[in-house]
Amino acid sequence: MNIARRPTLPSSVAPRAVTDADVPADARPDERLTAMLRWAVQAPSVLNTQPWRFRVDGDRVSVFVDRSRVLAAVDPEGREAVVSCGAALFTLRLAARHYGETVAVEVAGPDDAPDLVGTLRLTGHAPPTASEETLFRAIKARHTNRAPYADLEVPVGLLARLHGASEAEGARLHVLTADADKAALADLVGRAIRAQSDHESLEEIGAWARGAGDDRPDGVADVPWGGWGRMGHLHADPRFAIAETRALVAGAPALLVVATDADDRAAWALAGAALQHVLLLGAAHGLAASYFNQPTEVDDLRPEVSAVAGVGHAQVVLRLGTPVETPGTPRRPIDDVLATAGG
Ligand SMILES: Cc1cc2nc3c(=O)[nH]c(=O)nc-3n(C[C@H](O)[C@H](O)[C@H](O)COP(=O)(O)O)c2cc1C
Repeated sequence: MNIARRPTLPSSVAPRAVTDADVPADARPDERLTAMLRWAVQAPSVLNTQPWRFRVDGDRVSVFVDRSRVLAAVDPEGREAVVSCGAALFTLRLAARHYGETVAVEVAGPDDAPDLVGTLRLTGHAPPTASEETLFRAIKARHTNRAPYADLEVPVGLLARLHGASEAEGARLHVLTADADKAALADLVGRAIRAQSDHESLEEIGAWARGAGDDRPDGVADVPWGGWGRMGHLHADPRFAIAETRALVAGAPALLVVATDADDRAAWALAGAALQHVLLLGAAHGLAASYFNQPTEVDDLRPEVSAVAGVGHAQVVLRLGTPVETPGTPRRPIDDVLATAGG
């Protein structure tokens, strides 16, 4: 198998920091769109491969899959890469709305160029709505958080809004609540971890792990805890990874499956938009997310995930919950630090 090598880039290529000032109001449409890409690239992507390439042409942006960044062993069809690009296209749309642009977004169909995921075109001007601004403000706050979450349920009303968010983008969201369904999913994740313990998958995953001193602007930090959900793949007996992941699945406050009726490029792009809409709405309400996407990456197991979820074709499996605050450090009392007159 031809494993995609991780490209070497200088570390300044995709800065994580972005501010309002980065998109000048008086610039040409293509300049503004190019500046807005700094927001689009804040989207999540499988193994932080950032498998997107953008072409700006006047008032239009086309989003393509960057095939050199598709995971040949883990994601041979490029499905998760397209999902990631769909998330970036949705993020670009939010940025355009934040800057007062109205837009027309289209996902690519079967007759379009093979690597095209979708396009965004500027159509006019209107201020963003309050809910668009809420999502926009969550773009920088959203991060994958792989640590255990607080033992707090996700409110039913918020789950209903997350459903709506997914449906607004043309995908479905299924929430696993029954213990039997959670156990079935935990079992599937365990089987997927075992299935991906082959040499090609491990080599590919390892290529995107960022060890100490590696400051490349992509890949996932390879730190022991709260770092990377696939850590156990690389360094330990898969049994440890399986046990740890099963515990996280069983203890997840909310287990979600983003699914689509169809299973083609357009559906994958819509799933990516739905994923990012759900993540940002969750982040706006203080929720963090992490993923258990391994069983969707194993051909034999993906239909089983869809069956457990009971909806369409499973695209992304994730967990939502309230992050646990890390304990702060203590401070001495004021009396101890306040100098008295002459003291
Ligand atoms: C389609 C897709 C699948 C993903 N699958 C996993 C996964 O199985 N395990 C995991 O730990 N993270 C997974 N992630 C999360 C990415 O690793 C994460 O988005 C990326 O490292 C960027 O970090 P950020 O989300 O904090 O911006 C997935 C993300 C996407 C978009």
